[in-house]
Amino acid sequence: MDFKLTEEHLMIQNAARDFAKSELLPGVIERDNKQEFPKEQVKKMAELGFLGMMVSPEYGGSGLDTISYVLAMEEISKVDASCSVIMSVNNSLVCWGLETYGTEEQKQKYLTKLATGQSIGAFCLSEPEAGSDATSQRTTAIDKGDHYVLNGTKNWITNGGSADFYLVIAQTDREKKHKGINAFIVEKSWEGFEVGPKEDKLGIRGSDTHTLNFNDVKVPKENRIGEDGFGFTFAMKTLSGGRIGIAAQALGIASGAYELARDYSKIRKAFGTEICNHQAIAFKLADMHTNITAARHLVMKAAWDKDHKENYDMSGAMAKLYASKVAMETTVEAVQVHGGNGYVKEYHVERLMRDAKITQIYEGTSEIQKIVISRGLLRD
Ligand code: CAA
Repeated sequence: MDFKLTEEHLMIQNAARDFAKSELLPGVIERDNKQEFPKEQVKKMAELGFLGMMVSPEYGGSGLDTISYVLAMEEISKVDASCSVIMSVNNSLVCWGLETYGTEEQKQKYLTKLATGQSIGAFCLSEPEAGSDATSQRTTAIDKGDHYVLNGTKNWITNGGSADFYLVIAQTDREKKHKGINAFIVEKSWEGFEVGPKEDKLGIRGSDTHTLNFNDVKVPKENRIGEDGFGFTFAMKTLSGGRIGIAAQALGIASGAYELARDYSKIRKAFGTEICNHQAIAFKLADMHTNITAARHLVMKAAWDKDHKENYDMSGAMAKLYASKVAMETTVEAVQVHGGNGYVKEYHVERLMRDAKITQIYEGTSEIQKIVISRGLLRD
């Protein structure tokens, strides 16, 4: 077993680290305050190939593995988790789903634009009354022969306002339960599609999260992904990979907060010495680092499983469950290490603490991850 990163992996990690420091750090507090979508920063991420990292170069992607992707996600999340969720949704939920299950025409028409970042994608599953319970969605897609007609509302959609293309999961035949669900590619400009209100969020405030309304939206049949009734499996498969991306985001938030706490503890003095010399602080750093290292192993294992065509439903869910818990705990402790300074925006840790919480909620709450893990255990 080799725990060392390859030269190529180190290069990607360094490139993402440099990019985050030089391009994302300046202005991150302001964007968070103003809930400003990082348009310029996303454009630069696209230029560096961060928006289609795992997509084959044939479709405009970087052709890298999942390990490279999680390394880049961690570095970007250390500094700006709003940028990393935009990146994660585009890579894991949209590009991966299209490349794996889309037709050649769909890939040429949509994936080439999404992988290069010329267009941004969104993944639309959640609804006012169907977040965790994904089969209970109310959005309908009625089969009209050569097209479907979409009606309904989707909620909490990341990239909701800024996306150009939307993967929408909807119910075609309620009687068939999860086998009556389909997934479609919907273009923003289509009649009857409406971007609703933007959410005023606790964290990841730079990313835009919206309600979307579909009022008799006509979707050509060639925009359905996979066979009739494949939509639920499509969503589950896609989310399994998405969870690895969010686990890496949580890992980045945790390691970003840890590094800030460690550095601060070496310069801040109290009781006649730097605070890192007090065991009360040093032990916190030891716990943080141990937990982050354990989370990193889970994230890397899940990414390795995906790269080696092993099943990653459980390993991805375990990585997300644990890394998001570590993100929450570490950021709270990082604020504590900073004392009063931790409670003000200038020191970044309060933002990381707010950002951490979402990693326990989206792409399946921690409770959903436990369902996935326990079902995996009991199936064998
Ligand atoms: N891969 C393939 N198939 C899968 C699967 C997977 N990972 N998971 C389930 N399935 C299949 C099952 O095999 C079953 O098929 P068969 O009946 O043919 O065998 C079918 O799907 C139904 O499975 P379940 O009975 O397990 O379904 P369930 O209704 O009990 O739900 C669940 C399972 C795990 C709770 C699921 O509903 C789930 O993951 N919910 C959470 C949804 C979620 O993550 N939402 C997040 C929204 S997206 C988001 O947050 C993006 C963003 O903006 C950042």
